[in-house]
Amino acid sequence: MGRAMSAAASARSNEEFDMYYLIIKQLHVSAAALSIVFFVTRAWWSVTGSSKLQLRIVKVLPHVVDTVLLTCGVILTVMLGGLQAWIVAKLIALVLYIGVGTVAIKRGRTRSTRAAAALIAVAIFFYIVGVALAHNPLSWLA
Ligand code: HEM
Repeated sequence: MGRAMSAAASARSNEEFDMYYLIIKQLHVSAAALSIVFFVTRAWWSVTGSSKLQLRIVKVLPHVVDTVLLTCGVILTVMLGGLQAWIVAKLIALVLYIGVGTVAIKRGRTRSTRAAAALIAVAIFFYIVGVALAHNPLSWLA
């Protein structure tokens, strides 16, 4: 009886774990989708010289989304049992995505520098999506 109960309890906690994992993964993927939409919008405004880029909400919201993206990624990593090569590749690529992204939106001096940086940042983003799906640093080539 005791054993049966604990087996049932353990099945239930497995189900709970899976449910939380799925919810956090869904949040992570939604934040990733919002992140690229916001990035492309801001990069477009940066290249075309729009003053909308200076709106407060436009400056704050992407940071909120990227924080959710990273936090959920870290939680998923811990739930999976720690770092693996493909997760390290994602982390490095995320740093590059953000760095190249700031060239596209702020630091690039000319329009063409900003446009080139925006294209590279988008390419890095899709590299990361490929890594996430393949669980392999080779991304789409895996
Ligand atoms: C721009 C950055 C990122 C993008 C676009 C992205 C994208 C994705 C996508 C699309 C998935 C779902 C994969 C699937 O359904 O099979 C995923 C899952 C995951 N991501 Fe990210 N991610 C990013 C950053 C990160 C970071 C920085 C980490 C680690 C700190 C991370 C860790 C994970 C983990 C552990 C999973 C779960 C994999 C699975 O259960 O199959 N991600 N990510």
